[in-house]
Amino acid sequence: MAGIDYIERIPNNVSLAENRRLLRALEDWQPKFLEWWRDMGPDGFQAKDVYLRTATSVDAKGWAQFGYTRMPDYRWGIFLAEPEADRQINFGEHQGQPAWQEVPGEYRGTLRRLIVTQGDTEPASVEQQRHLGRTCPSLYDLRNLFQVNVEEGRHLWAMVYLLDAHFGRDGREESEALLQRRSGDHDKPRILGAFNERTPDWLSFFMFCFFTDRDGKYQLASLAESGFDPLSRTCRFMLTEEAHHMFVGESGVGRIVQRACEIMREHKTDDVRRYGGVDLPTIQKYINFHCSVSLDLFGSEVSTNAANFYTMGLKGRFEETKRKDDHRLKDGTYPVVTVTGDQIVTRDEPALVSLNERLRDDYVADCQRGVNRWNEIIKSHGIDFTLKLPHRGFRRAIGAFAEVKVSPDGRIISEAEWDARHRDWLPTEEDEAYVASLMQGVTERGKVAGWIAPPARGINSQPTDFEYVRLG
Ligand SMILES: [Fe+2]
Ligand SMILES: [Fe+2]
Repeated sequence: MAGIDYIERIPNNVSLAENRRLLRALEDWQPKFLEWWRDMGPDGFQAKDVYLRTATSVDAKGWAQFGYTRMPDYRWGIFLAEPEADRQINFGEHQGQPAWQEVPGEYRGTLRRLIVTQGDTEPASVEQQRHLGRTCPSLYDLRNLFQVNVEEGRHLWAMVYLLDAHFGRDGREESEALLQRRSGDHDKPRILGAFNERTPDWLSFFMFCFFTDRDGKYQLASLAESGFDPLSRTCRFMLTEEAHHMFVGESGVGRIVQRACEIMREHKTDDVRRYGGVDLPTIQKYINFHCSVSLDLFGSEVSTNAANFYTMGLKGRFEETKRKDDHRLKDGTYPVVTVTGDQIVTRDEPALVSLNERLRDDYVADCQRGVNRWNEIIKSHGIDFTLKLPHRGFRRAIGAFAEVKVSPDGRIISEAEWDARHRDWLPTEEDEAYVASLMQGVTERGKVAGWIAPPARGINSQPTDFEYVRLG
């Protein structure tokens, strides 16, 4: 593949060797990144060989090279999807103009903020997940956790590349700040709420990958439409990696669901906990929690910021170019679910200010497809139970529903009813303590913890009992 430099430490296809200024900036940042990785990356296992996928180029052969690597030696590279010849800006007031290769001066601050906000989520999730290795249910899962972690690290690199290459001194300062904020820290928290929550156990981890990484997919997909071409190409390549993170989430929860069903059938009981599984009602509570936290990431239903990002040509809709309209949204409307008094209503709002809600709708539909597949597992065991996404107004902290209490089935309820019922809807301390009690690390080759079914197949055509992490 032409144009790819195999610089020893930073594989890339951005001609890093020829861009001395950028190379210097990244060489200066790299030791700080490694220091952050040592302090805030996976706790333990740093000296172990992990069977990881590394991207060494963006073509079919290079983007998924598998082999054993110690995590600190992972080659965090910088990759942009191949350029589209004569790419244009596809929406907003610059529609039809050539895509920008440099940052347009008037949008500099806005664009930087968008990139920093996305970039901040990447190290945040590594921090949230750093203690999980010790309680892994199998070597297969341990490897998947670390794969997600190193790729989130690479996504940080991707955003830092954009900041360093295109935003000068401000960009370099932002790159440093990305290593200084800490998930859950009172004084210097990560920017977005969901990225300051704890991920204390593997059920939470799989839910996070399913719901919160999926928010990432939709944000990246909208940024992949950007008129700022380097951002578009960066995000397009990140999306290829993100797919695996959602696979980890969906299949992880699916295996826990499967194990619960097996126990229910085998012992003819609903008392799954008695046999060391996670019961379906508890899984439902975790869905309610992680879905509601992730829905907030899309922002307010009606948002002039979202409208501006669109009009400026910086952030499009999900699959913008596949949509058949004027791509300017000057006159159209969009149905938005909101609150009027004590009623939940659907109201037509101007399409341009409803872009957050539209993206949230795309996201919810995608989540529902995954939940349907979990329900297929339940059905295949002949069990009468349906997992559901909570109503989008449930437990929201941002937007129209922030001021009201909404039940998972979508009724506005009183404080009194909330107080009486929320323990039925969200994980309680007892639920969390129970899940925590299951978290005993299983690292014997081919063995899997009793609360989760074994994976259906291995990684990269390896058997499921492959030595995914060499602990010896
Ligand atoms: Fe990511
Ligand atoms: Fe991710």
